[in-house]
Amino acid sequence: MVTNSYRDAYDRSLTTPDKFWLEAAGRVSWSQAPHQAVDSARAPLYSWYPDGVLNTAFNALDRHVQAGRGDQDALIYDSAVLGAKQRYSYAELTDLVARFAGVLRAQGVGKGDRVVIYMPMIPEAAIAMLATARLGAIHSVVFGGFAPKELAARICDAAPMAVVTASGGIEPSRRVEYLPAVAEALALAGAEGTRVLVKERDGFAAQRADFAGWLDWDEQMAGAAAAAPVDVSATDPLYILYTSGTTGSPKGVVRDNGGHAVALGWTMENIYDVGPGDVMWTASDVGWVVGHSYIVYGPLLAGATTVLYEGKPVGTPDAGAFWRVIEDYKVNVLFTAPTALRAIRKADPEAALLARYDTSSLKTLFAAGERLDTDTYHWAARILGVPVVDHWWQTETGWAICANPRGLDSLPIKPGSPTVAMPGFNLGIVDSSGAEVDAGTEGNIVLRLPLPPGTLTTLWGDDDRYISSYLQAFEGCYATGDSGYRDGDGYLFVMGRTDDVINVAGHRLSTGSMEQAIGQHPAVAECAVIGVADPLKGQRASGYVVLKSGVDLSVPVLERELIALVRREIGAVADFKNVAVVEALPKTRSGKILRKTMRQIADGEEYVVPSTIEDAGVLDQLMAALRPADANGAG
Ligand code: COA
Ligand code: AMP
Repeated sequence: MVTNSYRDAYDRSLTTPDKFWLEAAGRVSWSQAPHQAVDSARAPLYSWYPDGVLNTAFNALDRHVQAGRGDQDALIYDSAVLGAKQRYSYAELTDLVARFAGVLRAQGVGKGDRVVIYMPMIPEAAIAMLATARLGAIHSVVFGGFAPKELAARICDAAPMAVVTASGGIEPSRRVEYLPAVAEALALAGAEGTRVLVKERDGFAAQRADFAGWLDWDEQMAGAAAAAPVDVSATDPLYILYTSGTTGSPKGVVRDNGGHAVALGWTMENIYDVGPGDVMWTASDVGWVVGHSYIVYGPLLAGATTVLYEGKPVGTPDAGAFWRVIEDYKVNVLFTAPTALRAIRKADPEAALLARYDTSSLKTLFAAGERLDTDTYHWAARILGVPVVDHWWQTETGWAICANPRGLDSLPIKPGSPTVAMPGFNLGIVDSSGAEVDAGTEGNIVLRLPLPPGTLTTLWGDDDRYISSYLQAFEGCYATGDSGYRDGDGYLFVMGRTDDVINVAGHRLSTGSMEQAIGQHPAVAECAVIGVADPLKGQRASGYVVLKSGVDLSVPVLERELIALVRREIGAVADFKNVAVVEALPKTRSGKILRKTMRQIADGEEYVVPSTIEDAGVLDQLMAALRPADANGAG
């Protein structure tokens, strides 16, 4: 018997996965319905719905128009930085997407071709994503806060037919000119001839002469013919999304079409409890996985209304911005990062601004991107009076590994925990030898293969890297890179990363790539970057450098140069603002820098001096450099 309970759904997903996921596939409109769910022929590489054929953009748009909901709002654009608001019905959005697909097709973009999208939070970003999907092409969205070099690395790897961009983005403190960054990235990638489609925005310079392949968005759209959705195999890639690994080279997470549509459809109903006509607002950026899944695809696949917000939680204009948006659009579900809630709380501790708005439409607040700390949880639950649900996931999984499924049972919330594993995620906590640990004991969080639909199928063009990065550490498992423990009720508590990836304001960053940037400075002999606890942003990148002997440069000048270097090489998003010069870095005898010990010292945690350390005296010197940095950063 099929009941609407979490336990039942979870058990069925593991005991009869084919049946469970074929049933879930019923939410999708297929050109050819699949008869097979998981395909294990290339294990440990798995794929989903090998005989299914569909178009994701059709499922997100046309299908709802055909079902008679063409007049319903599909997307609401709210720009707190411009004071602009615009509603797009399903019929209007379908038309715009079909015409922009026509623009791309006229430039030769077809099935399997890549399109890089580097845009601020404007509707054209979502339109470009959906138009690419409509052609069966593959988009790769790059967050606007990344510097040209990072954009270039993604262009080199994805080899796009076209780059879609805008002339500028608006940050509260400054205007961000996109075009010089795109021109520099194309030059760095040796791809100067690439077609560049530009949405021009008022007040930004449009340097057409800098681009061999310049095309103006508005001019092209004026004469564009609508393109019909192109059928693709369920296993064909929908998008590549690059994420930080432990090395400087980003990993191109590949998402398929079929598994993605099924999985997101399942989550909309069962995790978020959002259906046709409901309003979901995910206050993130389309450059992150959260934006892909729950600004663009999830709400539209479900026939709901999505809000695309260009602004910040505070300062645009104040800490009441979120409550204003909830009132304006009768938002039912808000999804944001804990750091945004902490920013609001810092500016308006008693949420006095909340009283100005009617937020009674709000049913649930979801948080992800980093652990929802218990203080922030209690504050948000108290001021909003709705369930506040932490859920844990990664770019790689595309949807929540652990959550509290509000469309199923609504399990009791335990502050500090993202609740329990979602269907298809066979979660284990193992020690370094791969043996399962007892409840209450911290270990590596792993997911037994196969992963459910909608999760990554590989890394772009590099199956070997996918296997070596994720599937080799623990036999038969995907290693999440996170550590944590389960309590006696099976609730998960995520404690942090086991690698050198850090999380700053919900953004995942590689300390390795920051070290690479710093290492380029001629005065630097060696360096280490660690994530130090930060009360607003969760973590903050802090760099410790050892100078080459005989360097004649004042420390403040050097620090400024290093901060500028990281900003230039990685981007403002790294938010790298702390650097200290030290005499030496603590290392093991084999030369490995003891980053974990450094972080523990900086965070004031207890630490054990590893027996393999080369020179224990170095730690004493470091204490002085690390602790003041912590004190400076607080608040
Ligand atoms: N384009 C260009 N630059 C960007 C950018 C973008 N899309 N997004 C951020 N930046 C820049 C900012 O302007 C800032 O630059 P600055 O050093 O010149 O001031 C820098 O990157 C750091 O930005 P940010 O992390 O936004 O810090 P902040 O101090 O300006 O704001 C918060 C703090 C908490 C309000 C902000 O981090 C926030 O809204 N976080 C939510 C994050 C989120 O939604 N994450 C998604 C995961 S689900
Ligand atoms: P990203 O791929 O950028 O979404 O970052 C994923 C990483 O962020 C995870 O591996 C975790 O380390 C962290 N993370 C995301 N959501 C949560 C959460 N709800 N609780 C704890 N950590 C989280």
